[in-house]
Parts: sequence; C-alpha cells; structure tokens
Amino acid sequence: MIEVDLIIKNARELLTLSSCFREDSGLGMIQNGAVAIQKGRIFWAGRTEEVSGKFPSIRDGREIDATAKVVMPGLIDAHTHLIFAGSRENEFEQRIQGLSYQEIAQRGGGILSTVEATRRSSFDELLVLGRRRLDRMLSKGVTTAESKSGYGLSLQDEMKILRVMKALQESHSIELVPTFLGAHTVPKEFREDRARYISLLTEEMIPEVAQERLAEFCDVFCEEKAFTLEESKKILETGRRYGLKPKIHADQLSPGGGAELAAEVRAYSADHLDFASPEGVRKMAEKGVTAVLLPGASFFLSMQKYPPARDMIEQGVAVSLATDLNPGSSMTESLPMMMTMGCTMYKLLPREVIQATTIHAARSMGREKEIGSLEVGKQADLLILDIPNYRYLPYHFGVDHVEYVIKKGKIVYHRQ
Ligand code: NIG
Ligand code: FE
Repeated sequence: MIEVDLIIKNARELLTLSSCFREDSGLGMIQNGAVAIQKGRIFWAGRTEEVSGKFPSIRDGREIDATAKVVMPGLIDAHTHLIFAGSRENEFEQRIQGLSYQEIAQRGGGILSTVEATRRSSFDELLVLGRRRLDRMLSKGVTTAESKSGYGLSLQDEMKILRVMKALQESHSIELVPTFLGAHTVPKEFREDRARYISLLTEEMIPEVAQERLAEFCDVFCEEKAFTLEESKKILETGRRYGLKPKIHADQLSPGGGAELAAEVRAYSADHLDFASPEGVRKMAEKGVTAVLLPGASFFLSMQKYPPARDMIEQGVAVSLATDLNPGSSMTESLPMMMTMGCTMYKLLPREVIQATTIHAARSMGREKEIGSLEVGKQADLLILDIPNYRYLPYHFGVDHVEYVIKKGKIVYHRQ
C-alpha cells in the first residue's frame, strides 16, 4: 500500500504549472484537483476522484480539504535586497515633492545612506530585520527568495550581510538564493578612484565570497551612475571564473545596452529593463536570458516608462516578476501586489503573472527542475489560497488570500 505524508484534495483549481498540460489557462490547471506529498516532494497530482482508489489508507490529520479554493506552487521572489538597516521615508517624501531618484542620490541620499546604516549595524541586528521581512514574505505566499548583498560595499560588511543570509537560510522556512552585489554602487571612500574599487571587487571580494561559498550568483548595477558596461562585464566574468553565475540590473533608469550585455555574458536574468532596447530584447530571447521585471520600482519611483513586457513575451523571453524589496526604490514584501501591478501597468494577463512568480522565477535562478511547478519529484512547495479562481489573485489586490503555505511538504504558515 502506498503511504503518503499529506494529501490536499477538492481544490476547485489546482494549478500545476506543468508544461505537459496543454489547456486554455496555460497553467496546467486541474479542476477538482488533488496533490499527494511524500518525503517533502510531489508524489502525485490529479483529480480528487482518483484519490480514494490510489491512496486508500490516509489517516486523519494527513489531509487538507481545499474545497472552493485554489492550490498552486509557492511564490518565488526572484529579486530582493533583503538585508539592509535603516529606512528612507524622507526620500519618499522628497520624490513626492518633485526630486528624482538620481537627484537624491547625488545629494548623498540613495544607496549610500543605506550603506552607512547597514555598516553601523551588527550581525544580530541585521538578522532580526531580515527575519521580520521573511516572515512578512511568507504570509504573502513566498516559499523561495533570491537575496542580494550590496549595502556593505567593503569586504567585511559584504561578508557580514552574506553571513546573515546564511544564518537565515538555516533557520527560516523560506529558502534563500544568495547573490553577491558588491557592485551596487561605488562607495564613498572610492569615489575618486573607482578603478581601485573594481580591483577590490575582482581581486579580493569575489574570491573570498566564492571561497566561503556565500553566494551562488554575482550581480552588477549596470547604469550610467553606477557601473559602466565594461566594468560590469569585467565583474561578471570574474564572478563566473569563481563559479558565481551572472545576473544584471540592466537599463533601469536609462538605456545603456544592459540587456545586450546580459545576452553576451549569458546571464541567468536581466532585471528591471525599463529602458531595454528592442535589439537587447531580441538578444535576450536568443540566449534564453530571463527578464525579471520589478513593477514595485516603476510604481514607487513614478517611472514614466515601463519595460516592453508584451514584446518580451512575443519574442519568447521568459518574463518573471519580483518585489525588488529595498528601502529606496521598492519598500514592499508583497509579491501578490507585484502581480496586480504586472497586470495593470505592464499589461500582463493573470495567467502570465502567475507563471512570472512561479516557474519563470525559478528559471531566473536556474532552479526550474526543483521548484516553480507541482510536478512529480519536485519539491513540495505550495499554497492554498482562499479565492474562487486564479484570476482573483491579482484581481482582488492589497489583501491576503493565503491560507496555508507548505514548504518541502511541511505546513509552515496557516492563517486561522
Ligand atoms: O534595484 N537599482 C539598484 N538597486 C535598487 C535600489 C537600491 C536603493 O535605492 O537602495 C533597485 O532598485
Ligand atoms: Fe534591485
């Protein structure tokens, strides 16, 4: 007799996101669906009618009734700056009064002010802040999150941040994918000699981060006021030599050839892309670079220009959505809010924003074989949502629909 650890049944819509299911929604939907979990992995997914024949001996407490609800893979936040201290509500107010993000940075605000606050904070203080943010993310349905360093900008402070992430990875139920973003901006003490900071990054920081296995990806803020195309390329190629996979903050505030560079270095993802050129998008499609779009930043910075999301999809680029959680340009832990914004601002369809926060987000971090869909053998990361159909998730916005979060087969969040 087959013994499973947990069965969820009677789901009005079970969204498997499996590529084998070809039906109208594009979400691998099974109506009146059920999932069986064994040893933290998906053991079976199908129609509830089949459950009693297949699994006759399920004991009480090992079943969850999802009648009238939607069951889907756990959400994946593919771009966050999780670890930082301080806050910048003063800049928020300045922007409302007409200053731009760049003007604020030039006046000594922006990333550098968060760097100061983060350098002053201890490991333990950052750990508490990070844990609170992860708790909020979990309640919104997030089961995996990419997490960037980048508010330390010295060997010691970047290592401190990455170690905080490691400690959170070991103690929180959200799975973290760590990224080294030492190339977030040139710190104050190197502003007169940026070449020395690039050397510090490539000769000391990247080797040390790789040696201690504290990051899986290396990211660069490729932008007029941050790092040039040449500098970005050098940093990403050095990262690659040390086993760190490339990602890029590309074409966020101005057109700069970032999308093209992402294709050239075969980045796993190019992120932001508000100003990406048609040629850059074409090259991303050709090389299979995932686009990670960040509507929270477009919204929070009142951007006039949005990334060409529909063109990307038409050209065959996998489009993901993420929060960009950070104190300057997107102060939010809510991935469901990004889904609504993806629809209203970028004109993605509800089914596309669900793909964007599950399977495409998994692809942006090379995790598509493990997470992002409910297929046999994959990690059992899933959500039970108190909504009547999947369109409700972006449609009924700004409220919480998550009833259960299950991570690797265990219930890690339950709203009573
Ligand atoms: O992704 N673009 C660079 N980094 C962040 C903003 C960081 C900050 O303002 O603190 C972003 O938008
Ligand atoms: Fe970012």
